[in-house]
Amino acid sequence: MSATTHPLCKKPVSRRLSQADLKFAQLARKTVGASKVDECMRAMHDSDVSNLKEQLLDKGYLDQATADDLDAALAEAPLPAPNSERLPPLKVDNLCSIIGETLGGIYLHRVLGKGGSGVVFAGRNADGEVRAIKVLHPRAARNLITCRRFGRESNALARLLHKNIVRVYASGVDRGLHYTTLEYCPGASLSTVVQTHGPLGLIAAIKVALEVTRGLKIAHSKDIIHRDIKPQNILICSDGQVKLADFGLAQIHGTQHLFTKKTVVGTAHYMSPEQSRAETVDDRADIYSMGVVLFYMLTGRWPFESKKKVDLVRQHRDELAPSPRIYRADLPDYVEELVARCLAKDPDERFDGADALIEALKEARAKALLQKLRVYAEETDHGEPCQMPPKRRRRPRVAKMNRSQAFWLAVCGSVFVSTFAIVFLLFSSLL
Ligand SMILES: Nc1ncnc2c1ncn2[C@@H]1O[C@H](COP(=O)(O)OP(=O)(O)O)[C@@H](O)[C@H]1O
Ligand SMILES: [Mg+2]
Repeated sequence: MSATTHPLCKKPVSRRLSQADLKFAQLARKTVGASKVDECMRAMHDSDVSNLKEQLLDKGYLDQATADDLDAALAEAPLPAPNSERLPPLKVDNLCSIIGETLGGIYLHRVLGKGGSGVVFAGRNADGEVRAIKVLHPRAARNLITCRRFGRESNALARLLHKNIVRVYASGVDRGLHYTTLEYCPGASLSTVVQTHGPLGLIAAIKVALEVTRGLKIAHSKDIIHRDIKPQNILICSDGQVKLADFGLAQIHGTQHLFTKKTVVGTAHYMSPEQSRAETVDDRADIYSMGVVLFYMLTGRWPFESKKKVDLVRQHRDELAPSPRIYRADLPDYVEELVARCLAKDPDERFDGADALIEALKEARAKALLQKLRVYAEETDHGEPCQMPPKRRRRPRVAKMNRSQAFWLAVCGSVFVSTFAIVFLLFSSLL
């Protein structure tokens, strides 16, 4: 077996097929036959060809049109877990200690964040592409429901391709650990941004809410209710993109319910009243949580605060949410009203879905921009009448001569003057 270097660690490692190749092989076997595919896969170990499709095309086992069809099918199908039988299972108590290992075809490079269910790492796949990989904590994996929920997250997300939703590439179990490979979003979670820099400006907060709600709209259109909208699950990428992550608690229409008895799901600070009653919820539960997120972005506080979860849940269920203005008096009426409408106890009194919230947020953004412009105009105006600068009188234009024109003018002038002088002298001598 020939050796190649890993793109991240630069250590020589035996050539392993990429996940894309494995899935392509699976599909190609049905089309061109297992023996031809296996022959090409064996050949790949000894040649420079790094792509199974190229190898099959080279050998003439596949024509371009069929290859394109297989590519299209590959783009739609979720990728399989890599075959790692030869590697021993990882027995870990501290998940962070697996940095430097390869899991699900990803060389783990560093920790990106920790959540309720596990740890998210940054790493690279065998093609050198940077990926995020979420690894379920072995303790959580002992719980069958958590495992199934973890698997469902990737299946649910695989259906959601949108710029405001973190993309899922693959999921599976490798070396005894459950993992999901995700699009890598460099940046920080909204929670980290607010904790580091304090509450956001009005326009920035509306922009973030707008982008998250656009992602939500796509999820809702596929009958997926997120149920855990919170700043920790909203990623602010370094290029300014906002992405919704962590569909681990999502309620997915058409899938089997994971709970035999009614269970409360979500995070207490952001939980809608109907969620706290363990009811089946609709998209308006996410609208409620969006209201709490907006409140948090604008003030750095939550509408209800308590150290006890039960108190928080009760407050969300029974108490009227305060206005964000108690923490930030300069907030305009229309933002106060928007937040209050999201936080209505009765879902019927909230915005009727993501579309309606998007429209309201756009309107609020327009008003906020206009208000900012007015403030700017007032600041630069100082209340004095605007004085126009005095008009400069225009000098009459004198046509400019170029050099040759000036030369000929001088020649003609001197000829004229000398002729005049000669004539004058002649006349004066005759007289
Ligand atoms: N795709 C990603 N790119 C970059 N960082 C991520 C990504 N996904 C998650 N994170 C980081 O990891 C943290 C936990 O991720 P999350 O999916 O919410 O895990 P959990 O299900 O355990 O709550 C996030 O708050 C974020 O900081
Ligand atoms: Mg999370």
